Amino acid sequence: MITVGIIGMGRIGKVHTTSIATRVQNARIKTAADPFMTEETAAWAKSMGVEHTTKDYHEIINDPEIDAVLICSSTDTHSQISLEAIAAGKHIFCEKPIDHDVARIQEVVEALKGKNLKYMVGFNRRFDHNFRAVQQAVAAGKVGKPEIIKITSRDPEPPSPEYVKVSGGMFLDMTIHDFDMARFLAGCDAVEVYAQAANLVDPAIGEAGDIDTAIITLKMENGALAVIDNCRRAAYGYDQRAEVFGSLGMAAASNDSASNVQISTADGVTGEKPLFFFLERYMDAYGREVSEFVDAIVNDTPTPLGVEDGLKPVLMGIAAKKSLDEHRPVRIEEVL
Ligand SMILES: NC(=O)c1ccc[n+]([C@@H]2O[C@H](COP(=O)([O-])OP(=O)(O)OC[C@H]3O[C@@H](n4cnc5c(N)ncnc54)[C@H](O)[C@@H]3O)[C@@H](O)[C@H]2O)c1
Repeated sequence: MITVGIIGMGRIGKVHTTSIATRVQNARIKTAADPFMTEETAAWAKSMGVEHTTKDYHEIINDPEIDAVLICSSTDTHSQISLEAIAAGKHIFCEKPIDHDVARIQEVVEALKGKNLKYMVGFNRRFDHNFRAVQQAVAAGKVGKPEIIKITSRDPEPPSPEYVKVSGGMFLDMTIHDFDMARFLAGCDAVEVYAQAANLVDPAIGEAGDIDTAIITLKMENGALAVIDNCRRAAYGYDQRAEVFGSLGMAAASNDSASNVQISTADGVTGEKPLFFFLERYMDAYGREVSEFVDAIVNDTPTPLGVEDGLKPVLMGIAAKKSLDEHRPVRIEEVL
């Protein structure tokens, strides 16, 4: 049994609190911290078995009884809190991205050197039952040598312009999950990125300086070509699919829906829409993710993702932005 603290009690902090409380037997949450902790959130946390709530995350960092922290606060705090938690000897689960700034991520990489600490980054889609099955089929050689990887990732509805302004841009906020998925499915890094993008969904996103629709192509180290298609709006719900095509065949994952029932009538054939958004689609994946983090600490085994897995998709996102700005393919080594 390990003792954890949760830093940040917004959407994702509550998701991880729920997972630990309901399905992780070998961890207890001692403290949850958020500077904007409301009475309602504190009461909810206590109802989930959290023993103590505070507005100051240093109470978690300075508590010798706490073995691990989950950093679920706003992105601009992740690298600083990571550095403080490493100095205090805590194992860390950090939500994506570690930072938008490569130099700040490198500071975290450096701080971890020589320390016997686990550091896992929250790329939850690796723990989705569908995508994991595709990755396992590819890794087992069932599709042969990977040649084409296709990732479709479209949100049901766009975020607010206020969110867009602090998000780091679509490539670092949304596509970052797909960059990680390309690495996960290919089993290697990307070497080159080419991005085409537009503001087609909401003019306010364009006014906030971002794009909302993109096609990104990647060349992977193993020679495979990957294509990611993104949109901040899909009329039919959260569209999350992936396909790996190789010399021996293809592995493909389609969307999850509430049921797989098809209703056929004289007018046509209809079925359920995909599950609405990430909280619906990935709740089970979030549970597996945090459970595997805790198991890695308890059993002293490697975490499924490490700090380098946090850095690489950020490099891909920066390369994609450079590609868009300069209208050319950009090699990852250019942004190192
Ligand atoms: N892996 C995923 O699928 C996924 C999904 C959503 C969000 N995220 C990531 O999780 C992070 C949080 O996103 P969210 O959607 O939960 O946002 P949110 O705005 O709902 O919650 C963030 C919380 O952090 C708190 N906070 C800010 N500074 C803090 C500090 N110094 N100490 C403690 N708490 C602090 C805020 O008060 C807020 O309650 C972001 O980095 C985001 O990229 C990941």
